[in-house]
Amino acid sequence: MTRFHSRVLESLINVISRNKASLLGGIIVIVLFPVLFVSILFDMQGVVQNPYFGFLIYLVMGPLFVLGLVLLLVGSFFAGNDDMGLLTVEYFKEQLNRPGRFSRIRKLVFVTALLTFITLFVVGVVTYTGFNYTESVSFCGKFCHQVMEPEYVTYTNSPHSRVPCVKCHISSDSRWFTKSKFSGVKQLFAVMFHTYSRPIKTPITALRPERRTCEGCHRPEEFPGDILKVEDKFLPDEKNTHVQTVMLLRIGTGDYRGRKAQGIHWHVSKNYKVLYKSSPDHKRISEVTLIGPDKKKIVFRNTDYAGRVAEPGPYKERVMDCMDCHNRPTHVFLSPNEALDRKMATGIIPDNLPYIKRQALAAITKKYASADTARFGIAKDILGWYRKNYPDIVRTKRALLDKAVRGAQQAYMENVFPQMNIGWGTYQSFIGHKNGSGCFRCHSGKFKTATGKTIPNNCDLCHLILAENKPAMDIFRILKSSIR
Ligand code: HEC
Ligand code: HEC
Ligand code: HEC
Ligand code: HEC
Ligand code: HEC
Repeated sequence: MTRFHSRVLESLINVISRNKASLLGGIIVIVLFPVLFVSILFDMQGVVQNPYFGFLIYLVMGPLFVLGLVLLLVGSFFAGNDDMGLLTVEYFKEQLNRPGRFSRIRKLVFVTALLTFITLFVVGVVTYTGFNYTESVSFCGKFCHQVMEPEYVTYTNSPHSRVPCVKCHISSDSRWFTKSKFSGVKQLFAVMFHTYSRPIKTPITALRPERRTCEGCHRPEEFPGDILKVEDKFLPDEKNTHVQTVMLLRIGTGDYRGRKAQGIHWHVSKNYKVLYKSSPDHKRISEVTLIGPDKKKIVFRNTDYAGRVAEPGPYKERVMDCMDCHNRPTHVFLSPNEALDRKMATGIIPDNLPYIKRQALAAITKKYASADTARFGIAKDILGWYRKNYPDIVRTKRALLDKAVRGAQQAYMENVFPQMNIGWGTYQSFIGHKNGSGCFRCHSGKFKTATGKTIPNNCDLCHLILAENKPAMDIFRILKSSIR
């Protein structure tokens, strides 16, 4: 090291050690720099797959490092001028006035520029990777494990499991960006102080996906028209009889290249607007307004509310969008029947054990205090019943029985989350019309205009049921027999 370099270093150390703020800052920076550097390298390589690791790097060490730098700089700036040696304006002036000293200044400027560059680079990397971390599925879904587990698990089992959380929940609009970060900070506090509601209330108000977001990937106006839907079910009898419901769903199309909007996606065609007033949970609807291409308003009122305006809750009006039907596109919570039917259709629960559907259903619909007691209870319940009623199966087909137990446990764990007070049916899908919900919130036959026009509810409006709970057979045969 030349004499010059050691003098620069000396005055740096002098400045730093002369006041407590920059000394503290200096210590933080020196200690954190190598740790951060190595951690970020590890993280970029994906060596450590733990959401808390990212949290530690980007939301604890990163900001602390930047704080250290700020302390260091602010401290040195406000420190007294004595002993500043090489780092004062006076020194520069003096040097500049002496001929032959320019190369020294150049060196000093070079050193300062290099240090500034390295610092900016590190701060840049920390901020950028830190930002990406807070946008990651790992942070959103796994960091607050207990709170987000239900959404994360259902998401993982859904068709959108490769769409990052932020893609749906945070619009690309910059106003949304700040909104989302503020909302995120609020949520972190809620988790820290355990003030979040269990279960999380829906419909969500902050960060609710926008119609535009869905339309970035799906364009209902381009849908070709009707689709054929086949549902596999298993009856709760001895043979677990495999049946099917088959229907032609009129999902429709809209306003695209001259095609007239029709069918189910007529609601979101751009020439029509459907507005409605409802309770805050959107489950009870009192008034629907339809605005067509001629801009005339047609108002349908729910006859159940005739004369009674004062229902609890403010009846705010909103424009119908994708989420008013697709409120569960990715956090799909199934009913116990559906959950078991899917496990049986895929062979995860073998369907050749007598009464397995009925017994599994009985076991998974009992109330359990936690996921662990549920796992234990379901096994005990199912095995206990077979020991009593089919002891020879327990003896000869134990592996098959254990497989069925594991499948039933999975069906439970994927849909019920006792720690968040989420039971069967806590979150309901608005697709379809189970128990008068979903489509029947409006298509109930009770919505009438002043002139007596009704929102239609005839069974063929939305689908043609080709088979209902009929013995499973080749779809080709079902179609052929219904054509004849
Ligand atoms: C395909 C789009 C999409 C993706 C991807 C997505 N969500 Fe959602 N999310 C929604 C919709 C739609 C709702 C329901 C909105 C409503 O009813 O108000 C929702 C609701 C929620 C809720 C409120 C509770 C509930 O179940 O309704 C939470 C919490 C949530 N999402 C977290 C996440 C997390 C964490 C991820 C990533 C692991 C994620 N979301 C990924 C669309 C999405
Ligand atoms: C980044 C692209 C992307 C975004 C954004 C997105 N989806 Fe999807 N969506 C997909 C993919 C991919 C599939 C799976 C297709 C498949 O497996 O056949 C899918 C499937 C679906 C399905 C069919 C589900 C099923 O059970 O077969 C529906 C309904 C759907 N999305 C609705 C929505 C809604 C509503 C939104 C907005 C909240 C949305 N999607 C946002 C990409 C996206
Ligand atoms: C009036 C209710 C309603 C609205 C509003 C609605 N959908 Fe749908 N959508 C449905 C129904 C019902 C289905 C068929 C569900 C099924 O297959 O089980 C469906 C099916 C879909 C599918 C799957 C199509 C396929 O070929 O399988 C996608 C994707 C989709 N909708 C996207 C959207 C998007 C994006 C919007 C908003 C622009 C939207 N939907 C608005 C009711 C609606
Ligand atoms: C907020 C109220 C509301 C909800 C919820 C709703 N609809 Fe509608 N729907 C309407 C209105 C209003 C009309 C138009 C009635 C008219 O033309 O007089 C309509 C019309 C329709 C039509 C006929 C479209 C055409 O002209 O071809 C279909 C099909 C339909 N709805 C299916 C559904 C399905 C399926 C669901 C549930 C997934 C659903 N709707 C949920 C309000 C609603
Ligand atoms: C406003 C549209 C609409 C009307 C009117 C309607 N349905 Fe549906 N129905 C649906 C939708 C959407 C589904 C769900 C499809 C799915 O599961 O994706 C459904 C599902 C069904 C199913 C299958 C349920 C299952 O087991 O999975 C049956 C059966 C059914 N409807 C019968 C009827 C009958 C009977 C009527 C007349 C009283 C009727 N529907 C009127 C929209 C409608």
